Amino acid sequence: MSRATPVTAASQASVDGPARTPGTHLARRDTITHEADPSPPATALSEPDPLPGLQAEFPAFRIWREDVSGRVRYVACGRNLGLPVHTVVTCDPDELRSALAPVRQVTTVPRGSEAPSIARMYDLLLGGKEHYAADRAAAGPVLERFPEVAQIAQANRAFQARAVRYVAEQGISQFIDLGSGLPVSPSTHESAREVVPHARVAYVDRDEIVLAHARARLAVDEQIAVVAADISDPALILADPALTSVIDLAKPVAVLLVSVLHFLPADLADAAVAALRDAVAPGSYLVISAGTSTGTDPDLIRSLQAAYGGTAPVTGRTEAEIGAWFAGFALAAPGLTEVQAWRPDRPAHLVLPLSARARFLAGVACKAAGIGSWLP
Ligand SMILES: C[S@@+](CC[C@H](N)C(=O)[O-])C[C@H]1O[C@@H](n2cnc3c(N)ncnc32)[C@H](O)[C@@H]1O
Repeated sequence: MSRATPVTAASQASVDGPARTPGTHLARRDTITHEADPSPPATALSEPDPLPGLQAEFPAFRIWREDVSGRVRYVACGRNLGLPVHTVVTCDPDELRSALAPVRQVTTVPRGSEAPSIARMYDLLLGGKEHYAADRAAAGPVLERFPEVAQIAQANRAFQARAVRYVAEQGISQFIDLGSGLPVSPSTHESAREVVPHARVAYVDRDEIVLAHARARLAVDEQIAVVAADISDPALILADPALTSVIDLAKPVAVLLVSVLHFLPADLADAAVAALRDAVAPGSYLVISAGTSTGTDPDLIRSLQAAYGGTAPVTGRTEAEIGAWFAGFALAAPGLTEVQAWRPDRPAHLVLPLSARARFLAGVACKAAGIGSWLP
């Protein structure tokens, strides 16, 4: 086995180059690992290809294989700069796995007021008080040109409450709220408990401020858990002991992905939703809302991308791509629709008019028996 060696971030650009520094451990944020020893010959053809497994296991990294002068090496590159290890190059798949394994645990967005945060900007749109100057500066230009974005955020939040109550009325008593955001009333457990008083909820987010608020304000009893995790790693989320202490995955569950999937790279969002669809028991529900590029002014998407800057990607997915997240599930009426129009709880004339240039879609769907690879 070759020996992995860390080098400094200054030589990050030279993943293909020879920059090498002695050392054997991964210790610091920004540390990169390069191969140190000559790689062995390419993996024998008869051995199973380790690449798909590595890619599935570490979705926070882009992983590929290179053939350099007849020798195979694996390259893993972090998808965001917040990861403590950015790039790993090695000829040994097991070594790559060992180098990346600790990084799976470090997924949170650190506290800090310098950069805008998704959660605080959303709080600003909802009229809350948990935002900083950086959030206001980032959101300002968007709101100036597209004031309806704040209305859409409020309509989205109202959709979440209606959808949770609807799902609870279908008999669901456990909820996984992924990308839960800063606490807002009614929270998921408050809405669910209007219908099912003993409802259990796992709130999942990767932002440390959100997690701190959730622990202080949402985790009001032992039926509520707060999980620090990244949606791009659903297997890790579903195995988290805090989550499994309140959620029984052998039974139907509602998985909420409300106003969050457009903040994940498209391939990660699609893979995460597919894995969740597969993992939950028959009778489970998916509750999803997201901005769509279909019918939305491209200038709005560009403004949002500029506003969130390096914090997160903003992907405008098409209506068809959003519809595909429900693949194999039965959409509850009225299907995938504008967020305001999903089972409105007020007369039509009081429902917010739909914006002609900003579309935000919502849907709720149920997993019928016999779908996916779920096993009791
Ligand atoms: C716009 S807020 C939505 C909050 C809530 N779901 C709602 O719709 O009212 C998005 C939340 O998702 C979180 N988030 C974004 N990307 C995430 C990821 N990859 N994993 C976990 N949480 C994420 C953000 O930290 C933020 O709290």
